[in-house]
Amino acid sequence: MGDRGKIEAAKLAVEEFRDAVLDAGIIGIGTGSTVSRVIDVFADEGVFKGKTVVSSSIDTVIKLSSKGIHAVHPSSVAVVDIYFDGADEVDPFGNMIKGRGAALYGEKMLAYKSLINVFIVDESKTVTKLGSSKPVPLEVNRWMLGTIEILLDKMGYRYEYRKGGKDGPVISDFGGVVLDVYTGPIEDPFSIEEKLLYVPGIVETGLFLGYTDYIVVGWDKGGGEVRRYSRSRGVSYS
Ligand code: A5P
Repeated sequence: MGDRGKIEAAKLAVEEFRDAVLDAGIIGIGTGSTVSRVIDVFADEGVFKGKTVVSSSIDTVIKLSSKGIHAVHPSSVAVVDIYFDGADEVDPFGNMIKGRGAALYGEKMLAYKSLINVFIVDESKTVTKLGSSKPVPLEVNRWMLGTIEILLDKMGYRYEYRKGGKDGPVISDFGGVVLDVYTGPIEDPFSIEEKLLYVPGIVETGLFLGYTDYIVVGWDKGGGEVRRYSRSRGVSYS
């Protein structure tokens, strides 16, 4: 489910934001199958020519490179003009869960650096409350794993170490261990984020709150819509 919606969303994002990308000097690209379709179109059209490109993950750097696009290290860029990424869940306020691809930490740093953030999803990702269908990923420093387990137990959440591709937990591009926390529908995502980030060793959470300028939603029946939000976090916000 969602494949048609992803294709529609990527198509619409390309149409709506092509001019903004042509005007931009520095373009940020996130991670995942949806944004990958956007890369394909923009790369084939030559839209990245003469631009500086930064990416949230090794996976996307490899993808860009296969298209002949050389991504620079994000440390060399203080401000990104426009950033594109996918998401796992989007609520009516444009708040999101991200991190299925374990790239949440890099994604949040780029979203913070970026002046315009565009997130691209199929309609199955839209929910009334975050946590309804997806876990909240956490990137955690290994020194604190047991300690963070105690915290999550106290908060009443089930969690598991993400597995895949190797024995033992998934390790992110930044060296953190990735956990998925099954919160169920979240009433107040800001207070949960605050509680989690208060603990040293929780490097980042997959709750993306206040980072959204635009969400492009693709519909499975064809077509889609661009939703505009009032953003509150990022380099140009206090
Ligand atoms: C990567 O860590 C994630 O945040 C992705 O951006 C998100 O999971 C969306 O991925 P898809 O576009 O593949 O659904």
